[in-house]
Amino acid sequence: MEIIIQPSSQEVCSLAARIVAKLVREKPAAVIGLPTGGTPRPMYAELVRMHQTEQLDFSRVTTFNLDEYVGLGPDHPCSYHYYMTENFFNHVNIPEKQTHVPDGLAEDVPDFCRHYESAIREAGGIDLQILGIGEDGHIGFNEPTSSLASRTRIKTLTQKTVDANKRFFKSDEIVPRHVITLGVGTIMEAKRCLLIACGQGKAVAVAAMVEGPVTAMTPASALQFHPSVVLLVDEAAAGRLALGDYYRSVYRNKPDWQR
Ligand code: GLP
Repeated sequence: MEIIIQPSSQEVCSLAARIVAKLVREKPAAVIGLPTGGTPRPMYAELVRMHQTEQLDFSRVTTFNLDEYVGLGPDHPCSYHYYMTENFFNHVNIPEKQTHVPDGLAEDVPDFCRHYESAIREAGGIDLQILGIGEDGHIGFNEPTSSLASRTRIKTLTQKTVDANKRFFKSDEIVPRHVITLGVGTIMEAKRCLLIACGQGKAVAVAAMVEGPVTAMTPASALQFHPSVVLLVDEAAAGRLALGDYYRSVYRNKPDWQR
């Protein structure tokens, strides 16, 4: 796992956007796994800016989103589909048919999940899976004790995650308890993973993911078994890493050919 510590969330997101842009320039028909949440917003803004001012071309890119709330359709302002439309899809030249977000209104959820998995396979698999992390160490919506071999399926959120996500809902609205999420096993099949985490609230989860044991209690720790992971964190989220100075020196002293 490559651990890159940046001074602030702005630098984390602009470096994340540069990694995505490099992939899209090298492989215009790349398949990219996308996250939502507060953390990646500036990354999407930077990708939109690169599209508008640097001709970054998304016309052949295919995307698969990580997760969605059951019961919320694309027009619901708190759905992840809406988030993607507002923050990214509407502002770049990606054809709608190449974007995929789990269907929160699917009538037959297990059947939908099977189709989502086959669509990823048919697209050739995910080249770069971008991830955030929950304060409890979840990736996608794979809550603690999720099977590390799990596939796309329905999950029930923990109270902690419901509380953390309340800020995106109006005060009188109920946060859905059920979600559809890519499984940990599905995420592990991506060719590369890029996890971004910012703020002190993520520090415990980040340390558990990188330096703790591989355990279903911290689903993100499964990434220790993945051959190609970049973890991009700001100083606050890196605050509990025991080997922080080591990771900083590795990054500073990278051989030129590796940069
Ligand atoms: C939700 C999403 C995750 C995301 C997490 C952290 O639970 N399902 O994919 O990583 O939130 O989001 P934030 O960046 O808002 O802290």
